[in-house]
Amino acid sequence: MKIMTIFGTRPEGIKVAPVIQEMANHLEIDSVIVNTGQHKEMLDQVLDLFDITPTYNLEVMKAGQSLGELNSVLIEKISKVIEIEQPDYVFVHGDTATTFAGAFSAYVHQIPVGHIEAGLRTNNIYSPFPEEVNRQLVGRIAIDHFAPTNKNKENLLKENIDANNIHVVGNTVIDALLNISERKNNLSDKLNHLLSNNKRTILLTTHRRENLDDLHSVYRAIQRITDSYEDVQVIFPIHKNPVIREKAQEIIGENPRVHLIDPLEYEQFVHLMKQAYLIITDSGGIQEEAPGLGIPVLVARDTTERPEGVEAGTLLLVGTDEDKIVEEVERLLSNPKDYQTMSGIQNPFGQGDTAKKIVNYVKMKFK
Ligand code: UD1
Ligand code: UDP
Repeated sequence: MKIMTIFGTRPEGIKVAPVIQEMANHLEIDSVIVNTGQHKEMLDQVLDLFDITPTYNLEVMKAGQSLGELNSVLIEKISKVIEIEQPDYVFVHGDTATTFAGAFSAYVHQIPVGHIEAGLRTNNIYSPFPEEVNRQLVGRIAIDHFAPTNKNKENLLKENIDANNIHVVGNTVIDALLNISERKNNLSDKLNHLLSNNKRTILLTTHRRENLDDLHSVYRAIQRITDSYEDVQVIFPIHKNPVIREKAQEIIGENPRVHLIDPLEYEQFVHLMKQAYLIITDSGGIQEEAPGLGIPVLVARDTTERPEGVEAGTLLLVGTDEDKIVEEVERLLSNPKDYQTMSGIQNPFGQGDTAKKIVNYVKMKFK
């Protein structure tokens, strides 16, 4: 059976890697790997780490590309590859433009789609934007919905998806995280030096499109926190999006206790997360990883499709309001009891066997 896996951004790469690696263990699977190249440097790091060589590199990334342009070029290029390969089944992951375009292109060629990380919802179509609509639309198209949690399954049932087609299997991010976090620390000398200077480290990442106009408020909060706490430093591996890089440089670029660095290779990022005092982020994937590592996360978003981490107590939604961020960070910096409450290790997203479950299911389907 020929199975095509389509992905294109850093988080998709991290989360499909365990599935691609698992498929390689099954001789009867002819695995066609399609990297749309929606991300370039940030995804290349992931491919190197997991030793994945795509069958196709579609190289769609262009600076300043609009969402309309991105979606149309993705559909055009993915469709061509589907026509050449004629796969029996297509895997897509998550909620990016690549996810939607991959599922839609498979649909127009009447090829069944398996959606990995299905059923995450905020039910607000502009938050996150455009991810909420991407995943809802893929939910209409997919034949198999690999849901990380029971809550995700419930979301799908509310949309009248047939229960027989929903498989609660955990999230492949835990497979990737467990694999990588066992490796020994390979941080650069510069980062190891920073982490051994007796300061508490706040790890920061921001990239959400709906937050781009509010980033100054997040960065000003960072400025105020480092002004007030001499024993605090911030490490900020900045997303490659030039809009984010310019804003960060403008507001916190000169701050000696804020370290703006390039995106880290996943293995290094995991080691950095483990050593952080707390994380401030608008990332989806980090909201899943941090509970497993016991690191408190302030989520710089108004909504989350990952309520499991909030219920587990590791995540706190703080939005992008400057005062609110400062208030919550100060609370965690100065109140050890509150800090302890948020740092218990919890893992609501699986046991590290998700990829195996997904591949076994699809294999049985074609028997
Ligand atoms: C995309 C996804 C988002 C996902 C995020 C993960 C969409 C619409 N958005 O958002 O769902 O959460 O990835 O990070 O699918 N760039 C580089 N090099 C890279 C990567 C990006 O230069 O390796 C720059 C390019 O100028 C690119 C811009 O960043 O145009 C934005 O990338 P894009 O994929 O459009 O959106 P993200 O904000 O990364
Ligand atoms: N990540 C990484 N290097 C970094 C920052 C993040 O490898 O410098 C990883 C992180 O551990 C998580 C994923 O990238 O697995 C999240 O990607 P991102 O925040 O870009 O996307 P999202 O998860 O929000 O879609």
